[in-house]
Amino acid sequence: MSPETTGPAAVIVLAAGAGTRMKSRTPKILHEIGGLSLVGHALRAARTIDPRQLALVVRHERDLVAAHVSGLDPAALIVDQDEVPGTGRAVQAALEALDAGGPLDGTVVVTYGDVPLLSAELLAELVLIHEHERNAVTVLTAVLDNAAGYGRILRAADGTVTGIREHKDASDEEREIREINSGIYAFDAAVLRDALVQVTTDNAQGEMYLTDVLGLARSAGGRVAAVVTNDRWQVEGANDRVQLSALGAEHNRRTVEAWMRAGVTVVDPATTWIDATVTLAEDVRILPNTQLHGATTVARDAVVGPDTTLTDVTVGEGAKVTRTHGSGATIGANASVGPFTYLRPGTVLGETGKIGAFYETKNVTIGRGSKLSHLGYAGDAEIGEDTNIGCGNITANYDGENKHRTVIGSGVRTGSNTVFVAPVQVGDGAYSGAGAVIRQDVPAGALAISVAKQRNAEGWVISHRPGSISAVLAEAAGATAPVSETAAAQPPLDSSSTPAPTEEGKQS
Ligand code: UD1
Ligand code: CA
Repeated sequence: MSPETTGPAAVIVLAAGAGTRMKSRTPKILHEIGGLSLVGHALRAARTIDPRQLALVVRHERDLVAAHVSGLDPAALIVDQDEVPGTGRAVQAALEALDAGGPLDGTVVVTYGDVPLLSAELLAELVLIHEHERNAVTVLTAVLDNAAGYGRILRAADGTVTGIREHKDASDEEREIREINSGIYAFDAAVLRDALVQVTTDNAQGEMYLTDVLGLARSAGGRVAAVVTNDRWQVEGANDRVQLSALGAEHNRRTVEAWMRAGVTVVDPATTWIDATVTLAEDVRILPNTQLHGATTVARDAVVGPDTTLTDVTVGEGAKVTRTHGSGATIGANASVGPFTYLRPGTVLGETGKIGAFYETKNVTIGRGSKLSHLGYAGDAEIGEDTNIGCGNITANYDGENKHRTVIGSGVRTGSNTVFVAPVQVGDGAYSGAGAVIRQDVPAGALAISVAKQRNAEGWVISHRPGSISAVLAEAAGATAPVSETAAAQPPLDSSSTPAPTEEGKQS
C-alpha cells in the first residue's frame, strides 16, 4: 500500500488539560461552536483522515469528557493520563494503550481537543508531506505577530528545524522568534516511542514536554521538518470565552462561504448561522437572520428565512419557511410555513401543505395539500389530504392529565374557531360550523354545528346604553327602543347580570 492511499496508524487527540480560563462548570472541550463541541470538531477532522486507530487522552473531568466522546465516536479509545504532567506524558500514555494490540508502525498524528478549526485537508497535507519526505517528525507551525506563550521553532542557519523551545524556557533572543509550534504533529511511531522514554520533567514547568521529541529525534539521526500554515485560525485553541466566540464566528464564516461555493444563495452571511452538521442543496436560498442547527437539511429550491431558526428540521424541495421557529419537524416539498410559526417536534407537513401565521404545531401529521392557514394549535393529531382547517382552530389535546389524539380525514373543511376535544375523529369530507366544539366523532360528509342559536335583542343598546355613541349611531341607523313589556320579558344582556356561559356539551 502506498502511503497516499491509507490513513495514518493512529491519531492521538490530547484533551487532559483543565481549561480554567473558560471559568465554567462545563469542561472546556465540551463547549460548542457551530453546533459541535470543540472536541467534536477535533474528532471529525481526525476521522476524516481515516486513521486505523483514534485515541483521546483525558484527565480533567474525565468521566464527563469520556461519556461525551463515546457518544460522538464510540470507536475512540479513551486513555487516562496519570499525575505526571505534560503533553509528552499524555502522548506516552496514549501510545502505550495503542501499542497494547501490537506495537504501532507508521505515522502517528497528534492533535488537540481544543483546536476546532483545524481542517482535515491541512491534517492530510501534514501526513502526506511527512510520509513523502520520510521524516521522523513533521510539526505544523505558523508565523504569528504575537508569539508570546507559544513554543518557538528553532531552526539552523540553513533553515532545518532543530527543535522547539517553550516560552517559559526561552532566552530573550529565542522569544523574538515568531514561528510557533501549533502542537499538531506527525511522528514516526518508533521514533516517538523511543524518544518519549528519554523525555524528562527537567524544565521551567516541571512537565514532560512532547516538544523535546524533536531534538531527541534529530540526535538519533532522524529528519525533522515543519509544515508552515498561513491560516492562523486552523491552529488557534479556544482558551477563554472571547476566543470561543471568535472561533465560532470564523467557523461560521467558513461554513457559510463553503455553502455559497456549493451553490447556496446566502443573502446576508453576517446574520446567517449554519452548524457544521447541516446539509443544504444547490439553489437553496437563505434569507437574513436565519440559524440552521443540528441535523437540519434543506432540499433544492427551498427558501428559508428571514428570521428563522430551524433545529433538526427537514425542508423539502421548493418549500418556503418564513419567520419560523422549528425543531424536529419535516416540511414537505413545495409546502409553506410562516410567518410567525412555531413548529415543535413531530410535526410532519405534507407536500404543498401549509402551516400559516401564528400557528403552533406538535406531534401532528398533515397530509398532502392540507392547509392550516391562520391562528391555531394542532397537537397530537393526524390530518388527511386536501383538508382546510379554518382560522383559529384548536386541538384540545390535554385533559389536564393525559394527552389524546385528534384524527381528521381528507377533504375536510372546518369553520373558524372550531375546537376538537380529543380523543375525537372527523370523517372524510366533513364540515364544521364556525365556533363548533367537536366532542363527538363527526361522520364522513356531516356538518357538525354545536353553537346555540343566535338571538337578537332588538333595540337593546338604545335602552341599556342611552346616550352612548353606539346608541346615537344606532338611532341614526333607524333602530328604536324596544317596547317596554317586550324588553322586560327578555333576559337582560348586560355583562353585570349575564349568567356564566353554559358549557356547550352540557346543554342538552
Ligand atoms: C503546548 C506546546 C507548545 C505549543 C502550544 C500550542 C508543549 C510542551 N508545548 O503548549 O509548544 O506552542 O501547545 O498551543 O507541548 N494536555 C494534555 N496533558 C497535559 C498537558 C496538556 O493532554 O498534561 C493537552 C491539553 O488538554 C491541550 C494540549 O495538550 O489540548 C496543549 O496543552 P496546553 O497546556 O494548552 O499547551 P502548552 O503545554 O502550554
Ligand atoms: Ca494552549
